[in-house]
Amino acid sequence: MAGPIVVTGPLIPEAIRVLEREAGRTIRFWDEDRPIPEPLLHEWARDAEGLLTTLNDRIDARLMEAAPHLQVVANMAVGFDNIDVAAASGLGVLCTNTPDVLTEATAELTWALILALMRGIVPARNALMAGHWKYWRVDGYLGAELMGRTLGIVGGGRIGTAVARRAAPFGMRVMTAGKQPAPERVPLDELLAAADVVSLHVPLTADTRGMVNREWLSRMRPRSFLVNTARGGVVEEGALLEALDSGHLAGAALDVFDREPISGDHPLARHPRVLATPHIGSATQETRTRMALLATTNLLQALRGQMPLNLLNPSVWPGRAGNG
Ligand code: GLV
Repeated sequence: MAGPIVVTGPLIPEAIRVLEREAGRTIRFWDEDRPIPEPLLHEWARDAEGLLTTLNDRIDARLMEAAPHLQVVANMAVGFDNIDVAAASGLGVLCTNTPDVLTEATAELTWALILALMRGIVPARNALMAGHWKYWRVDGYLGAELMGRTLGIVGGGRIGTAVARRAAPFGMRVMTAGKQPAPERVPLDELLAAADVVSLHVPLTADTRGMVNREWLSRMRPRSFLVNTARGGVVEEGALLEALDSGHLAGAALDVFDREPISGDHPLARHPRVLATPHIGSATQETRTRMALLATTNLLQALRGQMPLNLLNPSVWPGRAGNG
C-alpha cells in the first residue's frame, strides 16, 4: 500500500474530490481551524509520501530527513520560503508551488491598497462610523491624487508586471527595478528617489530578507508610500515604523508581516498611517480554487512518476528512480 498523503490545511471541496478519487492511498487531512502543530506535522510526515502544504507550515531539513518515504512537497502558494528547497533537493524530494494562477488577484489587491492608502479610504470610513462627519469641508479627508504620480515596482516578475500593466488608466508613470528585464527598468536608487509609491514584488530569499531597511527607506522620496503584498520578511518592521513616525513616509499598506498572523495590537496594525490586511493577496474565490487544484495536480503528478507542472527543483528529476 502506497504511503499516505498529508494535507495540512483546509482544501476546497473540488480539490478534495480530486484527491480522494485519484490518490489511491490514505489521505490525512488536518481540519482544525488553526495551523497544524509542528510536532504533529512531523509525526504525520514520518510515513508520508506526499505533503500538500500551505505557507503556515515550515518544511525544513529535520522534517524531511525524518520522512524517508517522502517524494513530494506541494505548496499551495507561489512563495516557497517556508520550504528548505536545497535540503529537499539533497534528499531527492520534489517541491512544487502554484505560480501564475494568483498573479492577477495579487495585482488587483495591490491596486486596492494603493488606492485606499493614497485616498485615505479607511480613516475616512472610520471617521464616518465614529460620527465625525459633520459637514463637507474643503480641507476634509484629503488624500494624494494618483494621476501624474510615479509608481515604483521593485521586482519585475509576473506579479510586478501585472501591477505595472494596470498603471496607465490611473495616469501613473511606472518605473521598475529588478533582476528581470522590464520596460521602464531603472536602477533601484533612481526608482527610490523618484517614486511616490513603492510596491514590493520580490520573493523572500537570503538576498531580500530585511532588504527594506533604514538605509533603503531613507533613500525613498520624502512623503512617499510603501506597499507590500510580497513577504513581510523583506521589510525591517522597526525601520519602517521609524520612517512612518518621523513623517518621512506618508503611509504604508501591508498585506504581509514578518511573523504572521499579527493581531490588532501590532504597532504597524495600530499605526494611523498604515493600512494592514491579513495576507489576502490571492484571496479570491476563483484564485484560491485554482491554487488548490494546481497544488493537487502537482502532488498527484509527482506521486504518479510524472514530472509536476510547477517543479521548483528540476535538478532532482533526472536522478529519480523509475521516471520516464
Ligand atoms: C501567497 O502569499 C503566496 O505565495 O501564494
